[in-house]
Amino acid sequence: MTIPELKIGTVTAAIPIVQGGMGVRVSLSSLAAAVTNAGGIGTLSSIGLGDFVDSLTEYERISREALEYEIEQVKKKTSGPVAINFMGVLSNVNDLIKTAVDRGIQIIVFGAGLPSSLPELVPDPSVNLVPIVSSARVAELILRVWDKRFKRTPDAVILEGPLAGGHLGFSREQLERLDEFSLERLLPGLLEVLKKYEDAYGRKIPVITGGGIYDGRDIARMLKLGASGVQMATRFVCTVECDVVDSFKQAYLDAKEEDIVIIESPVGMPGRALRNEFIKDLELRGKFPVQCPYRCLTACKADHANYCIAKVLLNSYLGDLKNGLIFCGQNAHRIDKIVTVKELFTELIAGLAAA
Ligand SMILES: Cc1cc2nc3c(=O)[nH]c(=O)nc-3n(C[C@H](O)[C@H](O)[C@H](O)COP(=O)(O)O)c2cc1C
Repeated sequence: MTIPELKIGTVTAAIPIVQGGMGVRVSLSSLAAAVTNAGGIGTLSSIGLGDFVDSLTEYERISREALEYEIEQVKKKTSGPVAINFMGVLSNVNDLIKTAVDRGIQIIVFGAGLPSSLPELVPDPSVNLVPIVSSARVAELILRVWDKRFKRTPDAVILEGPLAGGHLGFSREQLERLDEFSLERLLPGLLEVLKKYEDAYGRKIPVITGGGIYDGRDIARMLKLGASGVQMATRFVCTVECDVVDSFKQAYLDAKEEDIVIIESPVGMPGRALRNEFIKDLELRGKFPVQCPYRCLTACKADHANYCIAKVLLNSYLGDLKNGLIFCGQNAHRIDKIVTVKELFTELIAGLAAA
């Protein structure tokens, strides 16, 4: 079987696997470069790169410089295409996107918020714009606005289903009815919405599906249903190259299915995470003191938040897992060893070919 390439606007990857962006600092230059070098598309996370400082302008400057540093590092490690993941709820998201574009990044992935003005911020058509959506309805809204205001379509759309890790574009009630919102159920409606715009613009808008994709068989199923590629994150955490500390990876290896839970986040969306000591402590106490000298998230009501999400995600990155939140996808409990990115790709490609 020939493995289809993945084309996102001006960029082509030999293997249709995108490594999903993972904040805080889970997918930095080491992981992203390894994925790109293996033939897929690696994604740097732009989230939470700035250390804790006491003013918003300082925070913006430090975040920008940290992103510039990661871009510089990833370019030293690979010459292939690398994406950057941005979240619409970040107060400095526009500044970070401009920084990435100025530094030559060709794929801008935008989630957790509506990218209504993204084409205005990034008018260069050679920079590929990729919104993350969780429904055909939201995709249609974005496409309609972009068509009307900018005469532009996305260069690809990531459809993230309810089994994904991190923040989720579904309500708690929807997350209790997983079957209704499976990728298999969501994808046909999205393809139908895109078709109208593909016909009008005479170009393909590839769909990349993510959330619970675990092996080559899952990838084959998605491609058969009409996806052009898949986005995977959880499996990349347990790779040698992933940028987090070993104890974070070990937490995945130790996880049982019942340890994977849905939590409320100050971002205003539910999230999927491991029920570790931090979460158990939060359940008991109800709240941890939040000190917020600047507002890194537009959606966070820091005065009422029961914890600072930036801080607890950073704690995990630093290895303080007792006080840290560990995001993971629904299939994290299935992983039983740490492998290299190359080994993971070999396994996935063999599984895809066999399927
Ligand atoms: C540790 C972790 C952190 C994540 N952080 C982000 C993030 O900062 N922004 C984002 O858009 N998605 C984030 N995600 C979602 C992934 O990019 C991806 O779309 C999703 O997890 C795919 O599902 P999978 O993990 O089952 O493969 C995160 C996922 C994980 C596991």
